[in-house]
This record gives sequence, C-alpha cells and structure tokens, in this order.
Amino acid sequence: MFTALFSEKIYFTLCRNRNKRFGIHRLLLILLCLAVFQTYCSIMLYLVLIVLFVVVVFAVVSSKPTRIPLMGAHVMVTGGSSGIGLEIAKECARRGSSISIIARNKSKLDEAKSEIEAVVDFEASGRKVICVPLDVSGDPADVKAAIQQAEEKLGPVDFLFNCAGISHAQSFQDTDPDIFGRLIKVNYLGSVYCTQAVLPGMVKRKKGRVVFTSSQAGQLGLFGYSAYSGSKFALRGMAETLQMEVKPHNIAVTMAFPPDTDTPGFHLENEGDLKPEETKLISETSGVHSATSVSKKIIEDSLNGEFMSLIGLEGFLLGNIVSGMSPCNSTMSAIIQGLMMGLFRIVGLSFLKNFDAVVAKCSKKRQTKKEK
Ligand SMILES: NC(=O)c1ccc[n+]([C@@H]2O[C@H](COP(=O)([O-])OP(=O)(O)OC[C@H]3O[C@@H](n4cnc5c(N)ncnc54)[C@H](OP(=O)(O)O)[C@@H]3O)[C@@H](O)[C@H]2O)c1
Repeated sequence: MFTALFSEKIYFTLCRNRNKRFGIHRLLLILLCLAVFQTYCSIMLYLVLIVLFVVVVFAVVSSKPTRIPLMGAHVMVTGGSSGIGLEIAKECARRGSSISIIARNKSKLDEAKSEIEAVVDFEASGRKVICVPLDVSGDPADVKAAIQQAEEKLGPVDFLFNCAGISHAQSFQDTDPDIFGRLIKVNYLGSVYCTQAVLPGMVKRKKGRVVFTSSQAGQLGLFGYSAYSGSKFALRGMAETLQMEVKPHNIAVTMAFPPDTDTPGFHLENEGDLKPEETKLISETSGVHSATSVSKKIIEDSLNGEFMSLIGLEGFLLGNIVSGMSPCNSTMSAIIQGLMMGLFRIVGLSFLKNFDAVVAKCSKKRQTKKEK
C-alpha cells in the first residue's frame, strides 16, 4: 500500500513535469527504489520482532545451576545393577567418578560391580565402586541409613540417579490392585526416599544433581500401562515441585523420559502373555533404543541442568507437546515450544487417533473370536 500510494503521487508529479523530460525509465527506477526500500523495512521489522521474541524468551527462561564435573564426584545409582542404571554407572566411571550402586539382589550387584570396574583402572585412580544391597521401597529409615553408610565410604553424593524401577503392562480391569500399590512404592516412593536421604547434604554444600527416571508412559497414557503410568506421572509432579524448592541451593533436578530401551527389564516386560496386544502394537510404532545411548543422554542433560531429558525424535516431540507449565532452562527449547506448540499438538492428536484405531481393531478381533 505504501508503495502504491507513493507511486501514484510520483506518477502525477511526473505527468505534470513532462516538459522537464522525465522519462519512463526514471519512473521505473524510482518505483524500484521504493520497492527495495519497502522490502528492507519489512526485513528489518521482522528482524527486530525476532530479536525481541528471543530477548523475551531469554528473560523468562530459568537460569542454569553451576556445572558440576563428574571427575572426582560420588555418583549414586539406584537400580545400578542392570539396564539403564548400569549403563549410567559405567559411563560415569569412565568420566572419573566414584560409584555406589543400589539394588536388592546381591549377586547381581557383584556382577555389575565387576562390569563397572572393568571399564577403567579403579585401583590406579584411587576411586571405588561400592554395592549397596537395599530395597528402595522399604522403610525410609533403612534407606537413609544405607545411603549414609555409602556416603561415609565415598564422600557425599554429588549425583543421584534414581533408576530403580519395575514395570507392568496389563489392562486396568485385569490388574491386581496390589500391583498398583507395588509400582507406586518402588517407582515413586523409592525415588522419594533416596532423594530425601541425600538432599540435606546437597543443600548444605549448595551442590548436587538429582535425576528421576520416568518414561514416555509418564508423559501420556497408553493402553495397558495404567499402573505403570500412574507411578511415573506421579514422579513428574513431585519433581516439578522439588526443582522449584532446591533451585536457590544450586541443585538441579532432571526428569528423564526414556522410550522403549533394550534392557533386561524391557525383555522381562515382554515375556509371558500379560502384555495386551494393543500395548505391543502401539509400542512398536516407536523403535527400541540402546541402553548406552539413553544413559549418555540422561547424563548429559543432568550435567547441563536441563529439567527434561528427552530421547530420540519422538521423545523430543512428546516432551515439547507436554511441556505446558514445566520448567525450562534452555532458550532454544523455549523458542521451539513457543513457535511450534500448535503444530506439535496436531501431530500428537494424529498419533492418538492412530492408537485409538489400533485399540478398536484389537477389540473387534477379540469380539469376533468370542462369537465363534
Ligand atoms: N527399559 C525401558 O524400556 C524403559 C523405558 C522407560 C523407562 N524405563 C525406566 O527406567 C528405569 C530402569 O529400567 P531398566 O529397563 O533399565 O530396568 P531393569 O533392567 O529391570 O533394572 C532395574 C533395576 O532396578 C533394581 N530394582 C528394582 N526394584 C528395586 C527395589 N525395590 N529396590 C532397589 N532396586 C530395585 C533392579 O535390581 P534388583 O531387582 O536386584 O533390585 C535393577 O537393578 C526404570 O525406572 C524403568 O521404569 C525403562
């Protein structure tokens, strides 16, 4: 409009000044200059808006805590005798930490200790790996005492990775009520008890990292995971609250949301015939990740003080869809969430539609089988 108004004005001026030999090429040149000027103004306006957006996002994003090196740190891993926990323990050992691993089965703990010791020369470096046989869902006083003993041997815990967990896949109606309680005890309360045991020391030293291991099933409800999802969603509510309470003490909380991961626990869940067909078909839509890649991403996010640890493309998409009022301390994530939320929501809804179609198909199949 700006160009059109001005071109009209110029055209009439030129017509009136025809005697002064204004040629058509001059008119075109002026029009071109105006078009270039207008484009330049638009680009500058967009740039200013983008810069303003980034500045606003930067201002609202939470600041990150001071980075703690893994070298020389005491890393405690619950569920450190198997799967994701064991891989985290091995990677931290590689990066110079002393390790304490917690689990119930003593012989599995000893095997894991040997595996961890095999990744670096512990004796030469003066570091140690210790086993803490413990049920994290037991009496909180016992949990506290066992963790205190580990701290006496290796020094105060700098990093706590809460990985101990169990899963269960069965339809809501078929799930024994005790299983709901068991999963809440191990997956949720187990993490609460261990964190309460190390937190006072971290607050005193103004230094620490706590990681909770949820699951993608802790971000959205999926057929067959009612007991498991309940326990993993609970972790998120608790962790969001905790991170706000401990931030002034330079302590960062990370919520990890692993996808299906190739671990003994994952294979155990797929054994037998409890896992409904719907759960298997829906889970198949996202592949199985290696425990090594998952553990490395969790460690990196914890070191960087990220609240959410998202793994893989689907994890990234899901994490951004469910981010809502979750804390965020990455400017890039905040920009992506601010710009893409609407689009991500549409993609998410199309996934849900697809899952509903799988459930409807299985239900029809079951009905037909019954009628025969
Ligand atoms: N693998 C996956 O696909 C996947 C996906 C998303 C989230 N996750 C989560 O990631 C975490 C690790 O999973 P994973 O697949 O690596 O599991 P895993 O291979 O089954 O290992 C579980 C570990 O937790 C320990 N544990 C279980 N119950 C315990 C208790 N009451 N007290 C102390 N230790 C206990 C186990 O040792 P003991 O049995 O000897 O106690 C073992 O060391 C879990 O929280 C799981 O829910 C896993």
